[in-house]
Amino acid sequence: MKIEILETADGSPTLYLPELDETYHSRHGSVQEARHVFIQHGLNFIIQEQKKEESAHTAIQLLEVGFGTGLNALLTLQEVILHTEIKITYTSYETQPVPKEIWSQLNYINEPNASESYAHMMQAPWNENVALRSNFEILKIDKAIQALEAKEQFDLIYFDAFGPRAQAEMWDVSVFERLHRALKPGGVLVTYCAMGQFKRDLKSLGFRVERLPGPPGKREMTRAFKS
Ligand SMILES: C[S@@+](CC[C@H](N)C(=O)[O-])C[C@H]1O[C@@H](n2cnc3c(N)ncnc32)[C@H](O)[C@@H]1O
Repeated sequence: MKIEILETADGSPTLYLPELDETYHSRHGSVQEARHVFIQHGLNFIIQEQKKEESAHTAIQLLEVGFGTGLNALLTLQEVILHTEIKITYTSYETQPVPKEIWSQLNYINEPNASESYAHMMQAPWNENVALRSNFEILKIDKAIQALEAKEQFDLIYFDAFGPRAQAEMWDVSVFERLHRALKPGGVLVTYCAMGQFKRDLKSLGFRVERLPGPPGKREMTRAFKS
């Protein structure tokens, strides 16, 4: 499939698939969107919640749907550098790994350490646990999320599939049934999508659904809790 690199409104890059007429991130700002939806309302929210339980160390089992360019994983890795008290195991599913000639042109964070970490992460072998830091381990799985068999394993899910128009099957209720099963009780799913049918499907599976302000250019996003 043909892939193009585009610059988004915050100056950070994204990928565009002409065949699907779909970008990997918001054209209003890829880094801005990822920070807002996944880091602020997902990861940082979970860290704050776990801190309330007053444990000295916080272990987070994180699942991502759609590894793509690795932007969400990179931003998550940057967070553990700031929060040495947390330990993250980052599992991410992806069916179409982005080729090196494309990802090597993406400069998300203009700092030498970040570029090095990014290359290390992108070159990590698939289907193997790789420790990128003492408190960050990644497992990239080159399979469809529809193959996930986990039960009560994850604290947090970043649901970052292409939109329903481009890839309707990713938004089928059967996928969220699987993700619901994979979450621990109290676990959280975050996504940029706020479509009505999607939220009704989540509720029908027993999720408690919260509407939050979206990133620039988008009115709302969704955070859902497994009770
Ligand atoms: C919106 S992009 C992900 C962006 C990514 N999180 C990032 O930070 O760059 C959606 C990704 O889902 C992947 N994908 C498509 N079908 C999938 C499936 N069945 N299971 C897992 N990933 C899938 C696509 O190849 C694409 O890389």
